[in-house]
Amino acid sequence: MSYQERGILVSMLIFFLIFQFCTCIDTITLSRPLKDGDILVSKGETFALGFFSPGNSSNRYVGIWYNKVSEQTVVWVANRDSPITNSSGILSVDETGNLVLHEKDQSFVFWSTNVSGVANDVFSAQLLDLGNLVLFQGEVYSWQSFDHPSNTLVSGMKFGLDRKTGLNRVFTSWKSSVNPGVGVYSLKMEFVGSTQSFLYKGMKKIWRIGSWTRHGCSGIHEMNTNYLFNVTYINNNDEVGIIYLVRTLSIFSRLVVSDFGIIERMTWNEADHKWVAFWSAPKDPCDGYNRCGPFGLCDPHALGTFECVCLPGYEPQSPQGWYLRDGSKGCKRKVGTQMCQVGDGFVELAHVKVPDTSTARVNMSLGLKACVELGLRNCTCMGYASADLSKGAEGGGCITWHGDMIDTRTFSDGAQFFYVRVDAAELGRDPPAPLTSLPAEKGLAVGHGRRRIRP
Ligand SMILES: *[C@@H]1O[C@H](CO)[C@@H](O)[C@H](O)[C@H]1NC(C)=O
Ligand SMILES: *[C@@H]1O[C@H](CO)[C@@H](O)[C@H](O)[C@H]1NC(C)=O
Ligand SMILES: *[C@@H]1O[C@H](CO)[C@@H](O)[C@H](O)[C@H]1NC(C)=O
Ligand SMILES: *[C@@H]1O[C@H](CO)[C@@H](O)[C@H](O)[C@H]1NC(C)=O
Ligand SMILES: *[C@@H]1O[C@H](CO)[C@@H](O)[C@H](O)[C@H]1NC(C)=O
Ligand SMILES: *[C@@H]1O[C@H](CO)[C@@H](O)[C@H](O)[C@H]1NC(C)=O
Repeated sequence: MSYQERGILVSMLIFFLIFQFCTCIDTITLSRPLKDGDILVSKGETFALGFFSPGNSSNRYVGIWYNKVSEQTVVWVANRDSPITNSSGILSVDETGNLVLHEKDQSFVFWSTNVSGVANDVFSAQLLDLGNLVLFQGEVYSWQSFDHPSNTLVSGMKFGLDRKTGLNRVFTSWKSSVNPGVGVYSLKMEFVGSTQSFLYKGMKKIWRIGSWTRHGCSGIHEMNTNYLFNVTYINNNDEVGIIYLVRTLSIFSRLVVSDFGIIERMTWNEADHKWVAFWSAPKDPCDGYNRCGPFGLCDPHALGTFECVCLPGYEPQSPQGWYLRDGSKGCKRKVGTQMCQVGDGFVELAHVKVPDTSTARVNMSLGLKACVELGLRNCTCMGYASADLSKGAEGGGCITWHGDMIDTRTFSDGAQFFYVRVDAAELGRDPPAPLTSLPAEKGLAVGHGRRRIRP
């Protein structure tokens, strides 16, 4: 081999070494920070981390995106509300064990993980193949991006509360497509009554995802396990929430809180090089939180008429408002209703997203039969339902409502049974009285063979 040939061979070897080396870097260490222009790529090459500018913006942000998706799709952003205006940004691990985003030779910190460090430990930050950026103090992790979501839920991420640390993961929209700053829409899980999730606009609830149970969610059946992904509900001493997993790693699927206040589940279609919206919500007027007021019931199939009706035994609080198709005042007990162990009982409604459980009582150790008895005995009980949908009429767990029942709606199928307290007159009617609705052309909206439950 000539000297020249050997030279070529050596440089090729070096080239391959460097090439190999470059694609394999998934870790930031004290001695190896990340400059603007550098990229970390996770081991399986599914995700990349680096600096980016959204759309036509010239601001620089640190983000994580799908490495194999040709249209840059950012799933997490570090410095959401403090953009860097030039390319002098550096992401490094400092001596206190924090990830810090700063400018070259400048002390100004744009963003930091802000965890308390342990002195004299080995610190590093690694981008894992699920798209999680994890900060390690030695072998122990002290921070991870999955716990501080932006607007996107990717496969493997948890949505819910870490009971040990009190950390509740909230997803927040971007301000706009060119500004990843914290926007007005947020998706949050709440734990009063039974576990529910809400989409907020600012402080205002605009959509409620019904109760989560280990078998899915009563508010949207599309969120339940299917052939592409599964959703597991976790509720133990350490945590409560869901974990969402795609069944095959080659499927890229994400749930996004969009800057328009819509939750979308998008799946990458490699053949057409585009994201396909699989599902989105809120979908119809009945998804609007508290659309029909207290004791109202929203029926999206009331085509051409007003979607608000009253629960059985109730009538519109404001017939005038109802006539003008404003359901916000809701409904009140019909005049002359006799209640409290005077022959009153419950009627069953099918395919219902049960009322907001924030003010309800939940007892997971009661079956549906005990639940009925509890309801009949207690005069303040306005309605009840099983807390575990999968068990249907047999029920597992008991939810009872003792005050206003709001945000109740029907679906054409799925969802669950809901039982509303009515007086003897309402119970005795055969066939059951039509649900109250004005204008009066509306008939029986959810009467799918209403069962009457008498004492
Ligand atoms: C960037 O794009 C947005 C819309 O996508 C537009 O409203 C804005 O004017 C553009 N800004 C610049 C600086 O071009
Ligand atoms: C980047 O911008 C900052 C001000 O935000 C400035 O202090 C710094 O000198 C700039 N660096 C370069 C390389 O232009
Ligand atoms: C860092 O954490 C401390 C205590 O948790 C808090 O007071 C401080 O505001 C945080 N700083 C930043 C920049 O988030
Ligand atoms: C959900 O899917 C993942 C990935 O295929 C699998 O490992 C897990 O066992 C599944 N869980 C359930 C509850 O089906
Ligand atoms: C649930 O019901 C059982 C059986 O009636 C009762 O012993 C228990 O105290 C109830 N739990 C709560 C939290 O009310
Ligand atoms: C009825 O239930 C409510 C709510 O759980 C409770 O505060 C009240 O004491 C109960 N009343 C009776 C008579 O058991």
